Amino acid sequence: MITEYKTDYEDDNRQSLLEKILFPVRNTNEKRLKERVSNKTILITGASYGIGAALASILAEYAVTLLLVARTEERLAALKKSIADKACTVKIYVADLRDEKEISNLLELWKNENIKVDILISNAGKSIYRKLWNSLDRFHDTQRCAATNYTGPVQLLLGLLNGMLQKEVHILNISAINVLLPSAVGWSAYQSSKVAFDQWLKCSEAELKAENISVSCIYLPLVRTRMSMVNENKHKQPAMSKLKAAKLITNYIIKRKRRYTPWWLGVVRLFAFIFPGMLYRIQLKQIKKAGR
Ligand SMILES: NC(=O)c1ccc[n+]([C@@H]2O[C@H](COP(=O)([O-])OP(=O)(O)OC[C@H]3O[C@@H](n4cnc5c(N)ncnc54)[C@H](OP(=O)(O)O)[C@@H]3O)[C@@H](O)[C@H]2O)c1
Repeated sequence: MITEYKTDYEDDNRQSLLEKILFPVRNTNEKRLKERVSNKTILITGASYGIGAALASILAEYAVTLLLVARTEERLAALKKSIADKACTVKIYVADLRDEKEISNLLELWKNENIKVDILISNAGKSIYRKLWNSLDRFHDTQRCAATNYTGPVQLLLGLLNGMLQKEVHILNISAINVLLPSAVGWSAYQSSKVAFDQWLKCSEAELKAENISVSCIYLPLVRTRMSMVNENKHKQPAMSKLKAAKLITNYIIKRKRRYTPWWLGVVRLFAFIFPGMLYRIQLKQIKKAGR
């Protein structure tokens, strides 16, 4: 288990030249990160795998209290063990963000223990690729994505907000570039849920900022994790490493900038604006050729 976390770091060496160009990420300024996070309580949802686990491993080097949430207890326990000798204090919480009751219990527990979150990294996520005609008996795909990626994070945040008043707080939403791009066939459950939370948070952003609560939306490209690599056709596509994504998030913790998008996303969006409907026509052609 613990070796797996080591590979989270090592996978950076596997970056191709193209990946280095597409996904440049500055090394974290450790001094500034230390200043920003020391003595802070940092909640990371989805800390058992992927980006969340890599981020927890980086932040563990500092005098922070890490609250790590996910469903897989043994992964959280292994992560806790692997960072036991670091500067942080770690608390792990096994909870399913799709379950209203489990979120209420977590919130109640933190309230009773007077735990107040300074930095919330809303990272837990579920992705599904499934085309419409294979989804007729799978309404639960949409329900599960919506609960993990949208309603669960909203419930959690609403429950934490009272404890976030009267201090400087930072919320980071780990989102995806797809939210900002034309819709893609097969991704309806995932994309709609990511768009929904993104929109909810952006609608609330000015009200939050007026109370000294900053929001950063991190629109990530493809990242090599358990989530993306179940999809075989993603294996050959350029992707960011988990560690790079985690470093990028720490850079946004330091700067509190409102948005991250990869440098080339503007070009792709411009192309989509100039040629509206092009992706739709390409997808339609492919579907007609391949059939259902
Ligand atoms: N990988 C990519 O290409 C990519 C691209 C853009 C954005 N993102 C976003 O990055 C975030 C992290 O994804 P990742 O790539 O690191 O995926 P990952 O390796 O699959 O990790 C997802 C994390 O979310 C947790 N999670 C999933 N369902 C949950 C639930 N119902 N309740 C509580 N925790 C839950 C998982 O833990 P358990 O299974 O233990 O609960 C796991 O720790 C997601 O929000 C994703 O949308 C990923």
